[in-house]
Amino acid sequence: MASSIAHMIRVLLAIAVALPVASRAGELQDYAVIGDGIPASLTGSPGDATRGRALVLDRASTCILCHNGPFPETRFQGDLAPSLTGAGSRWTASQLRLRLVDASRFNPETIMPSYYRIDGLQRVAKNWQGKPILSAEQIEDIVAYLVSLRD
Ligand code: HEC
Repeated sequence: MASSIAHMIRVLLAIAVALPVASRAGELQDYAVIGDGIPASLTGSPGDATRGRALVLDRASTCILCHNGPFPETRFQGDLAPSLTGAGSRWTASQLRLRLVDASRFNPETIMPSYYRIDGLQRVAKNWQGKPILSAEQIEDIVAYLVSLRD
């Protein structure tokens, strides 16, 4: 009897612990990787290139710690990664979306963060655990901006 109560308590505790994790995982939209990209918008609608440009330049997104590009107003830009200039001529929206969601799919050794992933990551800062770095809307805005970089 006592042991079955203990068992019930363990089950209830396990459920209580599992629930918040399940609802946090639900913060990620489902997406389908097809070939080397994610053809469909994560939000179901196109992003806004102007907001995307602001996000890329925002130090919080960290893009320009590694990348440079056509941002004459920004003095400090990284040189650890290819320039974003012309990214829209080299890559399709689908390829750019997957690269932002999970750059390690292209290159398992990459230093570029997986911006829309919460599982299987190491060294995730406490504030970011269980949350993607960028939201689905932010990913779409950045994709819209990068696609517009044609030369
Ligand atoms: C810590 C460094 C780092 C950060 C931060 C980073 N990247 Fe990257 N990125 C790279 C590296 C290195 C590559 C080259 C390919 C590879 O190693 O995956 C790359 C590749 C790319 C490419 C393909 C470039 C090409 O034409 O070959 C794009 C587009 C890109 N990153 C966009 C972004 C955007 C947008 C952000 C911010 C949301 C970002 N990256 C943040 C390091 C970074």
